[in-house]
Amino acid sequence: MLNIVIFGAPGSGKGTQSARIVEKFGINHISTGDVLRAEIKNGTDLGKTAKGYIDQGQLIPDVLMIDILASVLDSFKESKGVIFDGFPRTIAQAEALKQMLAERGQQVSIMLDLEVPEDELMTRLIKRGQESGRADDNAETIKKRLVVYHSQTAPLIDWYKAEGQYCHINGLGTMEGIFNEIAGAIEKL
Ligand code: AP5
Ligand code: MG
Repeated sequence: MLNIVIFGAPGSGKGTQSARIVEKFGINHISTGDVLRAEIKNGTDLGKTAKGYIDQGQLIPDVLMIDILASVLDSFKESKGVIFDGFPRTIAQAEALKQMLAERGQQVSIMLDLEVPEDELMTRLIKRGQESGRADDNAETIKKRLVVYHSQTAPLIDWYKAEGQYCHINGLGTMEGIFNEIAGAIEKL
C-alpha cells in the first residue's frame, strides 16, 4: 500500500500534483479542502460550520477533521493506496493519521513537501481567484491562510523528518518537471 502525504503551503500545487499521481499510480485521493467545499455546496450542517472557518482562512477544528478523514478512508475498499492532500495540517492530525493507519496495519510511505516561495504562492492564488472565484482566494484571506500555515502546519516538517518519512520537493518550475521529481521519489519506495 502506498500512503502518500502531499504537503505544502496554500497554492503550492498539492491538488495539481495529486491528480497526476492518481493517474500514474492508480491510488485514491483525499483532499480535505475538496470534501469541505462539496459540503458547503450541498448546504449541509458540516458545510455551514466549515464555511465560517474557510472564509476566515482558519482551520476547521481537529476533532471534526479527523472524523471526516476516517469516514472517507473507510469508504476506500480494495485500495492500492491513498494520497492525503491537505491533511494532516496540525500535529494532532498527524498523530491521528498515524494511529488510523496503524490500526489498518499500515503507515505513511512518504511525505512530499512542495516548497514554493511566498510571492509565487500569492501570484498563483490571486490568479486562480480571478479565474475560478474560490471564496478564499482573495489577498486578505490568502495572507491569513499563510499565517496559519506557518504557525500550525509547518511544524509538521520536523515531525515527519523525525518519522523518517520526509521528502523535499522543489515546487517551483513546470508542472511536468515537478511531477517527474515526485514520481522518481515514489518509484524509489
Ligand atoms: P485546501 O483546499 O487544502 O487549500 P490550501 O491548502 O489552501 O491549498 P490550495 O488548494 O489552495 O492549493 P494547492 O496546494 O492544492 O495548489 P493547487 O494545485 O490548487 O484547504 C482550504 C481550507 O479548508 C483551509 O484553509 C481550511 O480552512 C480548510 N481545511 C482543509 N483541510 C483541512 C484540515 N486538514 N484541517 C483543518 N482545516 C482544513 O495550485 C494552486 C494554483 O496554482 C492553481 O491555479 C494551479 O493551476 C497553479 N499551479 C499549480 N502548480 C503550478 C506550477 N508548477 N506553476 C504555476 N502554477 C501552478
Ligand atoms: Mg488544493
